Amino acid sequence: MVLSTGTNKIKTAVFISGKGSNLKSLIKFSKLQKSPISINLIITNNKLAKGLKYGVIFKIQKKIIQFINKDVAEKKILNELKKNKIELICLAGFMKIISKNFIKNFKGKILNIHPSLLPKYKGLNTHQRAIKNKDRYSGCTVHFVNSKLDSGKIILQKKVKILKKDTPGSLAKKILAQEHKLYPEAILKIFNP
Ligand code: GAR
Repeated sequence: MVLSTGTNKIKTAVFISGKGSNLKSLIKFSKLQKSPISINLIITNNKLAKGLKYGVIFKIQKKIIQFINKDVAEKKILNELKKNKIELICLAGFMKIISKNFIKNFKGKILNIHPSLLPKYKGLNTHQRAIKNKDRYSGCTVHFVNSKLDSGKIILQKKVKILKKDTPGSLAKKILAQEHKLYPEAILKIFNP
C-alpha cells in the first residue's frame, strides 16, 4: 500500500452525527496515493458521536457545533471551513438538513451517501421501508447535494439483495459494508473520470 503525505490533495471536511464508519473508510482511502482528497476536518452536530474517536486516532481536527439555532450553527461551520481552506464536503451519516444558503456557499462541492437506491426512499428509515414494500433489492447511493433532500445528481450506486430473512438491522449492516467501498469509488469517479 502506497501512502502519500496529503499535500496537494483536495482539502475535505467530513460531517458526521454518529458511528462514523464511513468517516473511517474515507480517512483510510484518503491516505492512499490514488486518493485525490485529504481529510482535514471533522464536523459534528453531536458531541456524543462515536465517530469523533477517529479524529483522535488519525490526528484530524474536529469541531462540535450544536444545532440549537441552525443559522448560527451554519455560520460557525462556514467559518471553520474557510479557516481550514476546505474545498470539498462529504456528508457521512450527518443527520441534519443543511440550508439552501449553506449549499450556495459550496455549490457542487458537497457529496452525500444515502442508504437506499435513490430516488427510492429519500429521508429516514430506508431499510424498513424497502423490506415493508417487499423490494428484492436495496442499496446505497453517493450523490451531489442540492437544495432538495436526497435529490441531487447521482454519482454512483450499489445494489444489495434483500433476503427473506433480512431485518432492517441485517440489511443496514450489509449495505453499510458496500457504502464503505462506494464512497471512495464515487470520489475517484468525480476527480479521475
Ligand atoms: C450510513 O448508513 C449512511 O448512509 C446513513 O447513516 C449511516 C451512517 O453510518 N446516512 C443517512 O441516513 C443520511 N440520510 P456511519 O456513521 O457508520 O458512517
